Amino acid sequence: MKEYNTLDDFTVENKTVLLRVDFNMPLDKKTLNITDDTRIRLALPTIQELINKKAKIVILAHQGKQGSWDFISMQRHAETLQKLLGKQVTFIDDIYTEKAKHAIQTMKPGNVVFLDNVRKYSAETEKKKPEEHAQSDLVKNLAPLADLYVNDAFAAAHRAQCSLTGFTVVLPSAAGRLMEKELTSLERVVSKPEKPSVFLFGGAKFADGIATIDRLLTNKTADHVLLTGLTANAFLKAKGVNLGKKNEEAFGEEGTPEIFTEIKKVYNKFEKQIHLPVDFAIEENGKRKEIPLAGLPIEKNLFDIGEKTIQQYKKLLEPAKTIFISGPCGVYENPLFRKGTEEIFKFIAQSKAFSIAGGGHTVAAIEQMKLREKISHISTGGGALEKFMMGEKLAVVEALKTAKQRQLIQVKQK
Ligand code: 3PG
Repeated sequence: MKEYNTLDDFTVENKTVLLRVDFNMPLDKKTLNITDDTRIRLALPTIQELINKKAKIVILAHQGKQGSWDFISMQRHAETLQKLLGKQVTFIDDIYTEKAKHAIQTMKPGNVVFLDNVRKYSAETEKKKPEEHAQSDLVKNLAPLADLYVNDAFAAAHRAQCSLTGFTVVLPSAAGRLMEKELTSLERVVSKPEKPSVFLFGGAKFADGIATIDRLLTNKTADHVLLTGLTANAFLKAKGVNLGKKNEEAFGEEGTPEIFTEIKKVYNKFEKQIHLPVDFAIEENGKRKEIPLAGLPIEKNLFDIGEKTIQQYKKLLEPAKTIFISGPCGVYENPLFRKGTEEIFKFIAQSKAFSIAGGGHTVAAIEQMKLREKISHISTGGGALEKFMMGEKLAVVEALKTAKQRQLIQVKQK
């Protein structure tokens, strides 16, 4: 018996279902087109099941966050979903005012309406309790039009945000099929990882991962942590390495003095187990050029790890029985800087270790390199997966559990 409801617990025919998915996709910086549709494809079973059961499906999702370059409307997402479903998906450039409400009220069973980016509503990202979010304009306007709330956004399950938790207070709520699959498969693998275990962190976000790295090493869940990308650069900076102005600017808002103090503390504690790149790739005259650590500072962006780092990391990965991958090793979208990610990911794919990969960009890189079948478990989660790996509570899962409890109490009282 699950602690949360699933689609098995409800009849949905002719019911209006608010479906929160995580379609926060990797985009092409120039065209803003979706470069990898994995997250949408993985959510298809839930959407298809709801269509087959003749529900009216109202999709809520986010892309990027206010102020980021990838903060765009959900139109492209709706178009991609329409193509994959082979069925009309109506995009509405509104979230909860008259246009959205009218579209919902005029839906027929089996229809799919896709509302705009929920993060255009500024209260969406406020960190609040579900009960407080339930008082928001978003929930107050949409909940009365719906019969059921389904959350399939595992990748955002660590965010205590309005559209992710607020509806669970006022509507019968269930986990979607993807959420259910992620939770059941991850529960099976995170409790006792087979040793040695190696955790690889990379990509372009780093602040959220620091506490995770600390806990993984403190709990002895991880034997080795291999760093690449912006996370590696942040550790190098905290260690006192001068990266050069361009690379320092790349830390953006996440690069606060407090975060570097925190990183330094973690590094000092686990210096022997945290591994940092010893060489890098930069662009020179349109070509890839590798430079050693001693070549820093440099007024060019570090776009990939270099050959020596690749070899050192492979040696550490070789005896591993459990490997966790979060984030590509470099700017793999650019063929000049794909080498680090490609070599390391291919090495993991052919190893006998139980491998888990998570995060939008990680999964996109795995797809691009056609390695999906060779990784033991692919999770759609980035930050959510890391938190799950640490045994931390996920706001969305907690909200779904509370919703089930609330419902059981109501049934008893009747
Ligand atoms: C993700 O892509 O990891 C989730 O959608 C969460 O995105 P966020 O880090 O912008 O909240």
